[in-house]
Amino acid sequence: MSDLYLKIVNTPAGKTAAQTLGLPAPVPLKRLKRTDQPFIEGDVLIGAASGGKAIAALGSILSASAANLHHASSNDRLKESAKAGNKAQPLELDSEINQKFSALVFDATGLKSPSDLRALYDFFHPTIKKLDSNARVLIIGQNPSSCRKAPQAAAQQALEGFVRSVGKEIGKKGSTANLLWMVSGADKQLDSSVRFFLSPRSAYVSGQVVKIGKSEAAPATNPVSPLTGKVALVTGASRGIGAAIAQTLARDGATVVGLDIPPAMEELEKVTGAINGKALACDITDDKAPKLIGDFLEEHFGGVDLVIHNAGITRDKTLGNMPEHFWDMTIAVNLTAEELIDEELMQRELLKENGRIVCISSISGIAGNFGQTNYSTAKSGVIGYVEAMARQVKNGITINAVAPGFIETQMTAAMPITVREVGRRMNSLSQGGQPVDVAETIAWYCNPASNGVNGNVVRVCGQSLIGK
Ligand code: NAI
Repeated sequence: MSDLYLKIVNTPAGKTAAQTLGLPAPVPLKRLKRTDQPFIEGDVLIGAASGGKAIAALGSILSASAANLHHASSNDRLKESAKAGNKAQPLELDSEINQKFSALVFDATGLKSPSDLRALYDFFHPTIKKLDSNARVLIIGQNPSSCRKAPQAAAQQALEGFVRSVGKEIGKKGSTANLLWMVSGADKQLDSSVRFFLSPRSAYVSGQVVKIGKSEAAPATNPVSPLTGKVALVTGASRGIGAAIAQTLARDGATVVGLDIPPAMEELEKVTGAINGKALACDITDDKAPKLIGDFLEEHFGGVDLVIHNAGITRDKTLGNMPEHFWDMTIAVNLTAEELIDEELMQRELLKENGRIVCISSISGIAGNFGQTNYSTAKSGVIGYVEAMARQVKNGITINAVAPGFIETQMTAAMPITVREVGRRMNSLSQGGQPVDVAETIAWYCNPASNGVNGNVVRVCGQSLIGK
């Protein structure tokens, strides 16, 4: 659905009117145009606090990009920035800075105590106003739960507050800020996440913290089609976010089995037909659904690599007015069915080695929502399920969740206009997201190189102002 306000406010007259009236003036977000597009271009500044463990890995990932790479110099606290490698030119932070940056990337893994946090100020204070629109701030820290000493855990946890505030300050220019918390030795697992968070693929993801663990060496993949040879199951694929997921995974090389309820077959076949996929008619709440899905995947592909539990419904009523079938259906579709399908696929060993499971939660599952006790319960349950399963999965399998905020689909188009307008603007980027924003995040989880990304819940919400 089109956002008329976003269009008007980006005309010269609209800009002036918004400024005069103090209205939000969202910047159109730059999304991926071509899959062979470089993940980042323009001037990128990289820096590290003393003791940084990710700076060499960051330097080498960024050296493979189309960006002009600079590293921070002339400040003792930031001298390890030079470890970014030969391709990075030194940039004096205490002289006048003339370029605009497309990204500021900072290795904060070396922070050992609160006094070290001064390195953040030294790096970002002279540079933050030099960010272009649609720019990226990305910080790499160490997961505080892996810090043995309390002062170190304090400094690393502090990064979360810093990143979330920066996101709120730079969002009005369409820019994002995110934090990757790695454990020691996981610098080799950073590649796909650094690429995602610096690229236009993460246009609507801001203020997020992602945990990156250690895992097997990532297999070499073609960056243009990293999912070649993979088979994906996408539930609720006939429209909205599910259709975008199916199209995006197919774009990245996967063969997609789209699933939806029998009345949606005509729409589903249009989606799967256009991407050479297969359509499967199935109500996921049917008792026989897990077996039917398992049989279909076994017969056609001998199993499945990527399972995307997208199908979802809302049945809104305040709790006292809610009929019992509203409660039962909402829990069954959004939560119980996912668990039963996974159980079947795992028991029959149909989910292949290095498989991926991705579930869809919601901001409602994080913050709660008026009239949505059933939906919020189910979507919150999804988070508990993902976090528990992440500790159990084996054979290189990962499980993660996305929590969309306001995404422009038939579901949100059906909202009354005032609710819709408030929903759209209540985030740092002052606009709704597109189904493809959720799909790109899922494609990043599914990337074979994202094997250290497990048990995360990433909000695709433009940094919604609602939440914890
Ligand atoms: P949608 O209503 O446009 O699409 C949902 C799809 O799931 C439909 O094709 C529907 O037929 C299918 N489905 C429903 N019940 C099913 C069942 N029993 N068996 C098989 N398929 C079934 O919804 P939308 O907006 O694309 O949402 C997709 C997912 O994202 C859902 O899980 C939703 O809860 C979640 N979400 C969406 C947000 C938004 O702003 N649109 C925000 C937060 C979460």
